[in-house]
Amino acid sequence: MKPFMFFIALFSLLLVNTNAQLTCEQHFNTPVCNECQTELWNSSGNQSTTCTFYGNLFMEYQQKPFTYDYNMTSFDNLINELCSSEFTCTYEESKQIWGNIMEKCANELSTYVDWSAAPSTLEQNQHSVIASYGSLFFFYFAVPEHNSICYKSSSGEFCGVESIKPVIDWLKQEVPEGNIQISYDHQFVYKEDGTSIKIPTELLTSCGECGVNMINEYENWIDQYGVPDPIVKNVFGGSLDALKVYSSCPLVLFS
Ligand SMILES: *[C@@H]1O[C@H](CO)[C@@H](O)[C@H](O)[C@H]1NC(C)=O
Ligand SMILES: *[C@@H]1O[C@H](CO)[C@@H](O)[C@H](O)[C@H]1NC(C)=O
Ligand SMILES: *[C@@H]1O[C@H](CO)[C@@H](O)[C@H](O)[C@H]1NC(C)=O
Repeated sequence: MKPFMFFIALFSLLLVNTNAQLTCEQHFNTPVCNECQTELWNSSGNQSTTCTFYGNLFMEYQQKPFTYDYNMTSFDNLINELCSSEFTCTYEESKQIWGNIMEKCANELSTYVDWSAAPSTLEQNQHSVIASYGSLFFFYFAVPEHNSICYKSSSGEFCGVESIKPVIDWLKQEVPEGNIQISYDHQFVYKEDGTSIKIPTELLTSCGECGVNMINEYENWIDQYGVPDPIVKNVFGGSLDALKVYSSCPLVLFS
């Protein structure tokens, strides 16, 4: 189910370069950034494109940790702000950026990742690798993702807000203390103490108006432009079918 695509953005450790305080080296905690890290860093701070909207979303989100108390107010404001900002990103424009990332980060993008692991563990051990996949993913899907998040459902709410509500409600009950991480594959919630619980399949299979719209956006995009190899191979287990199942409705992947 597609609404979960942007969960990746919300809960992941996406590279953010709009914070002028940090340098590439500080961000990656390394004496000198390599070619790939520099490319990732520069692309995320690229002021001359709106294709970076994910990064902007995440930067603001980091400063507004709704994961702690599940207070949707600031998240709601953030999505509203985001969706009223200019967005002119096109396939061609984003391709310039993710094309460079594919080239400079070829090693990172052929590295195996266990996407069900706790994001913080992955970030500790494979930061550049995760950032490479994340950046490729987010630049590649910037247009359908933006269109999905900013689609207004008949309730008048942006889908970016509406479609995560059932999950937030469930989380409130299951992990009232908050401070959670969701695995990139959306199968597990990791608590602060390192234990995890599985997200119920029903939460991933309900498919309302937002889900249907999101699937259309993504399917059209994929039909038109294909999907970069590293995403098919190392994120969706080598098969575009898996990706299509993931974006079908209802979702059967995790049953
Ligand atoms: C990254 O940005 C810095 C400063 O803006 C620039 O000097 C450098 O050439 C850029 N590197 C790449 C690989 O684009
Ligand atoms: C920044 O975006 C422009 C497209 O608007 C692109 O031509 C350029 O390569 C990008 N630079 C980086 C470092 O991603
Ligand atoms: C939620 O956050 C908003 C602003 O960030 C605040 O005004 C409000 O009191 C919070 N609500 C709860 C229930 O904590």
